Amino acid sequence: KTVFVLNGPNLNLLGTREPAVYGAQTLADVDLLCQQACARHGFALQFRQSNHEGQLVDWIHEAGRQHAAGELAGVVLNAGAYTHTSVALLDAIKGTGVPLIELHISNVHARESFRHHSYISPVARAVMCGFGVAGYGLAIDALAQW
Ligand code: DQA
Repeated sequence: KTVFVLNGPNLNLLGTREPAVYGAQTLADVDLLCQQACARHGFALQFRQSNHEGQLVDWIHEAGRQHAAGELAGVVLNAGAYTHTSVALLDAIKGTGVPLIELHISNVHARESFRHHSYISPVARAVMCGFGVAGYGLAIDALAQW
C-alpha cells in the first residue's frame, strides 16, 4: 500500500525557516526519514510539497482514488497555514474519505491563537503536533497499525 505525505505552503523552506520553531532539518531530510519509515513497513511513498492550495486538493483526490482501489495506507498532511484557513481541504478530505493524520512540526497550541483552530482536525483520524520532524516517522508507524 501507499502512503501520501503531503506538505503545504512554506515547508519547502524547512531548515532555514524559523529554525528555533521548525528545526534545522530540510524537507529533503524529512523525505529521507519518511522513506526509511515506509521501508520499515513495506509501504510505497509519495512525498510531495506545494505552496498551492488547489494542488493539495488535487493530491487528496488522487489519494482518494487509491483509497477506493484499496491501495492507500493513509495520508499524512502538514497543510501548513492552510490548516487554519482552508474549507477546500476540509471538503476534499471529507469527500474522499481518506484516512488521514494531521501533522504539525511545532506545537501549534503553544503558539499564536490563530494557530489553535484547524479546519482539518474534524475530518482527521488523528492529530500529531509538537514532535518536530520526527513526527512524520511516528505518523507513518501509526498508519501501519490501522
Ligand atoms: C505548521 C504550523 C502552522 O501553523 C504553520 O502555518 C506552518 C507549519 C507546523 O508544521 O508546525 O506552516 O503546520
